[in-house]
Amino acid sequence: IWRKSLWPELTGTLALAVFTACLGSLQYGYSLGVINAPQKVIERHYGRSLGVWSDREAQAAGNHTEGAEGVFLEAGQHPSVTMYWSLSVAIFSIAAYSPPFWWASTMYILCNRVKGMLMVNVLAIVAGLLMGLCQMWSPHIMVISGRAVMGFYCGLTSGLVPMYIGEIAPKKYRGALGTLHQLAVVIGILLSQVIGLDFVLGNDAFWPILLGLSGAPAILQSLLLPFCPESPRYLYIMLGKEQEARKSLYRLKGPYDATGDLEEMRREKEEADKEARVSIWSLIRSPVYRDQLCVALMMHISQQLSGINAIFYYSTSIFSQAGVAQPVYATIGVGVINTVFTLVSVALVDRAGRRTLTLVGLGGMCVCAIAMTVGLKFQSDYAWMSYVSMVAIFLFVSFFEIGPGPIPWFIVAELFSQGPRPAAIALAGCCNWTSNFIIGMTFPYIQEALDCYVFILFAALLLCFTIFTYMRVPETKGKTFEEISAAFQKGRKKNATDTELQQLKTSTDA
Ligand code: GLC
Repeated sequence: IWRKSLWPELTGTLALAVFTACLGSLQYGYSLGVINAPQKVIERHYGRSLGVWSDREAQAAGNHTEGAEGVFLEAGQHPSVTMYWSLSVAIFSIAAYSPPFWWASTMYILCNRVKGMLMVNVLAIVAGLLMGLCQMWSPHIMVISGRAVMGFYCGLTSGLVPMYIGEIAPKKYRGALGTLHQLAVVIGILLSQVIGLDFVLGNDAFWPILLGLSGAPAILQSLLLPFCPESPRYLYIMLGKEQEARKSLYRLKGPYDATGDLEEMRREKEEADKEARVSIWSLIRSPVYRDQLCVALMMHISQQLSGINAIFYYSTSIFSQAGVAQPVYATIGVGVINTVFTLVSVALVDRAGRRTLTLVGLGGMCVCAIAMTVGLKFQSDYAWMSYVSMVAIFLFVSFFEIGPGPIPWFIVAELFSQGPRPAAIALAGCCNWTSNFIIGMTFPYIQEALDCYVFILFAALLLCFTIFTYMRVPETKGKTFEEISAAFQKGRKKNATDTELQQLKTSTDA
């Protein structure tokens, strides 16, 4: 009774389906965060297997062996260790944004929902095994291969999960349930930070288990997926199976009159039949979806170029620069704040709306980036300025999680109808990961060049993204997929002609 009155459309099956899908997001977050804490330990093992390792304790105990090259260096100092380590970190995002380049298989996977999630779990389990058993052979090769496979998995899962949740969620809770993807990502990051501490698993003995565990949620997910209903929109609109879609709706929503939902899907199916299935390439070239695509890609680019991962990847060094005594714990503090504010977003997103939260989030981050710069600039003159930087970092992360963090992941599925949706999701993911990679690789250099002014760069970008959001991003809260695409169609009709629509259909058919 209490469930019915509080959350009338939330059933146990829907909760199970969302929880199961989010295990993929948890795994994605865990894999993002796991590599940071045990860096030194892993580098030592790489050095050992490459024969260039020096361990002061081992030398002091007189049981060291001379490396193949006859030199002993501190972990991380030897060029080949540095190279293999950097590759272990970077290969993950390179592989994660490669799916659009394997577009045929990517589209096949993204065009299936539950089956797609089951298929990609094979990748996650293989990756977990490669990393967990890395000491059986050259650890650096095993870890790099495992990270590559895991990156590929994460690229696919970060598209599949929000798409599946967006399609099974009742309209009223689509934002809140869509935000659960990001909530699971941030819980995954936090989990990896905590169990990556050296007195838990981030040590010489257990680091392979720490890395291997990134495949564990895939096992649980594979066991639960057979109990999850397939997306009714996918069944009806893509496969034309009305009866199965109806059954799936009953499983997700309980006994109710499904006529309204089926009617809405029927209209979308009519549209989708006209559109045909849109490939990545035809989506890029088509003027028909240009506005939606521009909004979707910009939202993903702004998520990454906001500089959030500069904080996540380099928070420990940023905190040391700001004069914090125990930077590792401050980093875990960031993880906690991150999780708490994603929860705030879950509560707000279906009330305040996507557009408002994105605007508030980007604007707030812009102000925080300026405050961080002031703090870093004057910390040598006034000791209390380091608190300004600290508070600004925490607020920066909070504003990110209120809107710019979770919303881009699920809004792409809202902006596109069934036909172009998988292609749009693949492209948006590619933009997200490419920008993520660019920030990850270039931030240390930018930091060196700009010193305490590094966050001014992000403040300027954030200002541009705030203006863009104000001008171009529509509100999708409480609207059906049909209403959302109709809003874009209105704008499009001014620009595109029927000939262009026909061209798109011809190119997709081809
Ligand atoms: C989002 C971003 C990811 C970032 C995370 C931080 O999921 O896509 O790059 O690390 O948020 O919470």
